[in-house]
Amino acid sequence: MRKKRDVYTKRAKQEGYRSRAFYKLQQINSKFKIFHSNQIIIDLCGAPGGFSQVARDCTRGKASIILVDLARIKPIPGITEIIKGNITDVSTVFKIREVVEKHRSRKQEIVVLADCSPNVSGNWPTDHAIQIWLSRVALGISNYFLAVKFISKAFQGESFPDFLAEIKEYFQDVKISKPPTSRKTSAEVYIVAQNRRDSNLTLFDTNILLKDE
Ligand SMILES: C[S@@+](CC[C@H](N)C(=O)[O-])C[C@H]1O[C@@H](n2cnc3c(N)ncnc32)[C@H](O)[C@@H]1O
Repeated sequence: MRKKRDVYTKRAKQEGYRSRAFYKLQQINSKFKIFHSNQIIIDLCGAPGGFSQVARDCTRGKASIILVDLARIKPIPGITEIIKGNITDVSTVFKIREVVEKHRSRKQEIVVLADCSPNVSGNWPTDHAIQIWLSRVALGISNYFLAVKFISKAFQGESFPDFLAEIKEYFQDVKISKPPTSRKTSAEVYIVAQNRRDSNLTLFDTNILLKDE
């Protein structure tokens, strides 16, 4: 398995992509056809930028892409905005909103990608709990922007069924995907949620972000 991972890491380097995660999202997109040019794509926890590169390539550079991470990210051609920030901090969401507002008149759909992962400690209960917490924060952000699609990493474990059920409250079409690039031994899967349900949510409702605080 380690060998397989190294193959993708090497390939990403050779082909000029930021990370092996590039191939995961590329495989997910081949199956679910997520991207088109009329979108604002918010890539949460996106460093070093492989997911954003997929979004850019699949939309031939026509979508607006906002890349957000705690880590500093070197500029990537074709990415609209890079924001260094913590997604659990409301001020980061307000910075994303400023960029969204600039592009909203020209782009109709908002899509949220969330490949969130803590620096794994090796302590599974802690790593799992933090990963799901970050993904739930990302779901809240997708609700704040009324995103029509939400694609999220999730570590399968004790809290996974509740997280999945929560996503189903907001989206009609929810699938679990394990792209071939993701190691079989890893608990990681991706949840692909599409078709937002009608609900009482309103755009830019700050209460959505503060729900769990
Ligand atoms: C698996 S990596 C993302 C890989 C990326 N999707 C790509 O394609 O290259 C997970 C990222 O989550 C980020 N992260 C973890 N907690 C975060 C937080 N609270 N706010 C923003 N980013 C966070 C980490 O800094 C790390 O870059």
